[in-house]
Amino acid sequence: MVKYEWWHEAVVYQIYPRSFMDSDGDGIGDLAGIASELDYLSGTLGVDAIWISPFYPSPMADFGYDVADYTDVDPMFGTLADFDALVEGAHERDLRVIIDWVPNHSSSRHPWFVESRSSRDNPKRDWYVWKDPAPDGSEPNNWISVFSGPAWTFDEHTGQYYLHSFLAEQPDINWRNDETRAAMLDTLRFWLRRGVDGFRLDACHFAMKDPLYRSNPMLDVPRHGYKNLGEYDSFEHIHDRGHPDIHGLFREVRAILDEFSADRPRFSVGEIHLEGEEWASYYGNGDELHMPYYFGMLHGDWTAAWARDVVETQERVLPPGAWPNHVLGNHDEIRIATRYGERRARLATLMLLTLRGTPTIYYGDELGMAQAEIPPDRQQDPWGRRQPGLGRDGCRTPMQWTIGEHAGFTTGRPWLATVDPDRTRNVEAQLRDPDSMLSLTRRLIEVRKGSRALRTGPYEAIEGLPETVFAYLRRAGGETVHVYLNFGDEPVRVPAEGTLLVATQSAGSGPVDGVLMLDGLDGAVLGS
Ligand code: NOJ
Repeated sequence: MVKYEWWHEAVVYQIYPRSFMDSDGDGIGDLAGIASELDYLSGTLGVDAIWISPFYPSPMADFGYDVADYTDVDPMFGTLADFDALVEGAHERDLRVIIDWVPNHSSSRHPWFVESRSSRDNPKRDWYVWKDPAPDGSEPNNWISVFSGPAWTFDEHTGQYYLHSFLAEQPDINWRNDETRAAMLDTLRFWLRRGVDGFRLDACHFAMKDPLYRSNPMLDVPRHGYKNLGEYDSFEHIHDRGHPDIHGLFREVRAILDEFSADRPRFSVGEIHLEGEEWASYYGNGDELHMPYYFGMLHGDWTAAWARDVVETQERVLPPGAWPNHVLGNHDEIRIATRYGERRARLATLMLLTLRGTPTIYYGDELGMAQAEIPPDRQQDPWGRRQPGLGRDGCRTPMQWTIGEHAGFTTGRPWLATVDPDRTRNVEAQLRDPDSMLSLTRRLIEVRKGSRALRTGPYEAIEGLPETVFAYLRRAGGETVHVYLNFGDEPVRVPAEGTLLVATQSAGSGPVDGVLMLDGLDGAVLGS
């Protein structure tokens, strides 16, 4: 029996702080900007928690995922006092605050790494992963960086290579060193004391690798995921991430969260791009991550069978008592309105907000914001500059608030241009339009919050409907909610009874008596 805590029932909203709201006119979003929009988040939209991507001091080689100090705020984003004010303002509104924590790597400008690379006998040498060159002078093994090229960079000064699973500016931390481990874990306590409600753990299963640093086996045929990572996909990644010792680390993280949970549970969600049993193993026995993010909905062939399979695969592999979750977008993915199309994005949002498990909405997706087209030579994202096609600037453009200049994001020059050619993908315009994506999202959140069945009821598939329809029901406390999603382009008729609570295309309401008509790419939620 699950004891429902806030994070089970929450709708989470991800904020990319550079791009949410700029309070000081420098063209880059900041913490005070987020604080100024708390009423939008908790009132207008009605989400229960925000996850803020990194705002730590950083040289911004990977836009904040290269942390130069785990216990401060980059001046670009404000100060610790701004952070405290944000948390206070959020908590006054019952809005939880989840922050990003980047355990696998720091910035190469972090003082720990600066010391570590200064000499072979520096006390912090072992805080990172340093290895001698192979006998021919080449890299110590065949590991590849996720962002392409070898995962090792040679340091002329000390004659050794250091490991970086991502950019050379992001050296991997050596979690097998007890002092480093203690120092890193203390950074969690720092933020917990400041009142954060939880952490999103970046690339967290990378933190433990093979202690012998053996080369990965090479595959006969490259195995590409939904993104083609080039040479990276030619290897079986059995040694460079996800060593079983990671479970011990996650248990320690959980114990720290539990230490701080007397007043309210503190929460963890891990970024783990894996599937099946291996993915599910990161729940542990209820003593590791509260949830690893489940990314199945980010990609697929857009059929009812696909959607059902994504949902049921996760349900099937969940350990007893573990809680599912779904995600349609984030700061690493093509915007959903572009990936699936605007109409499909509406249906997908209806699905996201009616399934069992914690949903996370990426900022701007509630407006159907589109992916910006930014050519490789103008990409600011280092990944996009190295591997054309993989750049992530397009999903990181400023939030669109108004129909005014720069969509009301800044009074200055935005760090990336906004994309709202017809001035309809913004909060101001969409609040006036009852059929807008924002109105739909607000209504879905409202319905979910008001429905115990949607928040906590089990998932049960509804069988025997046309092939293009994915339908399920959720039941709890004497209340039943039926959800019908037509993934096809043609209209369908399905047998159904109940009161229409919300639908993708029509803003209608009222009773459905025997037959529900769904247009192509239309979805409806019925209560009874
Ligand atoms: C995953 C983050 O989501 C991504 O934005 C970042 O570049 C890598 N981890 C490296 O930290």
